Amino acid sequence: MNHRSDDRPDRPQASTDHAVLTNAYTDGQPLTARQRLYDHQTPRYDLPSMVLEQIGDRAGMWLDVGCGNGYHLHRIRAQRPDVQVIGLDLSADLLIELGGAVLRADAAHLPLRTGRVQVVLMMHMLYHVTEPDRALAEAARVLEPDGVLIASTNSRADKTELDDWWAQAAADVLGNPTGPKRVKLSDHFPAETATAAVAAHFNKVTMIDLDGVIEVDTPDPILAHYASYRAWAHQTDVPFEATLEQVGHLLHAKLEDGPLRINTRQVMVVGSHPLEHGSPSKGPTPT
Ligand SMILES: C[S@@+](CC[C@H](N)C(=O)[O-])C[C@H]1O[C@@H](n2cnc3c(N)ncnc32)[C@H](O)[C@@H]1O
Repeated sequence: MNHRSDDRPDRPQASTDHAVLTNAYTDGQPLTARQRLYDHQTPRYDLPSMVLEQIGDRAGMWLDVGCGNGYHLHRIRAQRPDVQVIGLDLSADLLIELGGAVLRADAAHLPLRTGRVQVVLMMHMLYHVTEPDRALAEAARVLEPDGVLIASTNSRADKTELDDWWAQAAADVLGNPTGPKRVKLSDHFPAETATAAVAAHFNKVTMIDLDGVIEVDTPDPILAHYASYRAWAHQTDVPFEATLEQVGHLLHAKLEDGPLRINTRQVMVVGSHPLEHGSPSKGPTPT
C-alpha cells in the first residue's frame, strides 16, 4: 500500500474534487451524522440562530450557498417568512429533497445579477471550493452595497483527538508504528486564514470563535462521524472499513477510563460592505 506516515501537507484535492463531492453529498445522511456529533458539545451553539442574529432585520433575497441538507435554510425559512431564501448547492439530489427556491450551481460562478442579494451564507462549505477566494469574490459581487456575508469553517486545531485516534487505528491495521492522517476537509479553508480571506472582499469583518468540548459516553456518534468520510475512503491510504472497526475497538477501550472528550475549534466570519462596491479595506476587526 502506498502509505505515508510523515507530516505531509494533506491531500490538496481531497475536499474539492467534484466527482467525490457528488458522491459524498448524494444524500444528506453522512452530513447529518457529522452535524449530530455537535449535539454533545458544550457550550451548544445554535448556529442558525446566531446567523439570524447577525443578519438582523435585513429583508429581501438571501442566498444559502452550499446549503447541503438545509440545516440553516429550514430554520431561516421558518423564522423569516418575509424573505426569499434560495438554497444553492452542487448536489442536485440534496436540492430535490429540500424543495422551495433552489439553484444547482457552483459557488465560484453564482448565477445571479450583481448587487441583487442582501445576505449570502457560505457555512462550512468554502473548503470544498477549489479557489475559495473566487467564491468570496462572487459573494461580494452579488451582494448589495450594505449586504452581509456569513461564512464558517473549522480550525486546523479542531477535533485533533479524532485525528489521533484514527491514526492510531490505521497504524494498528497496517502493522506500522504510525498510521496515515485522516482526511480533514476543512484544511483547504481553515479558520486560521478565513478572516483575512473574507477581508480581501469586505470592508468590515468580524470573527466569532465557536470553541467547545464534545463529551460522549458511547463511541457511536464518533464512529458515525468517521463513517461519514466513506466517500473519501480511497484517499485514506489505509483500508477504510478495517480502520473504522479498529477505531471502534480503541474507543471502547478508552471509555473504560471515562467519557471521550474532543475539543472543537470553529469560527463564524461575518463580512459586510463588499469592497466590490467601493471604499478600500479597513482590514479585519476581530471580536
Ligand atoms: C459540509 S456541507 C455544509 C452544509 C451546510 N452549509 C451546513 O452548514 O450544514 C457542504 C455543502 O457544500 C456543497 N458544495 C461543495 N462544493 C460546492 C461548490 N463549489 N458550490 C456549491 N456548493 C458546494 C456540498 O454539496 C455540500 O452540500
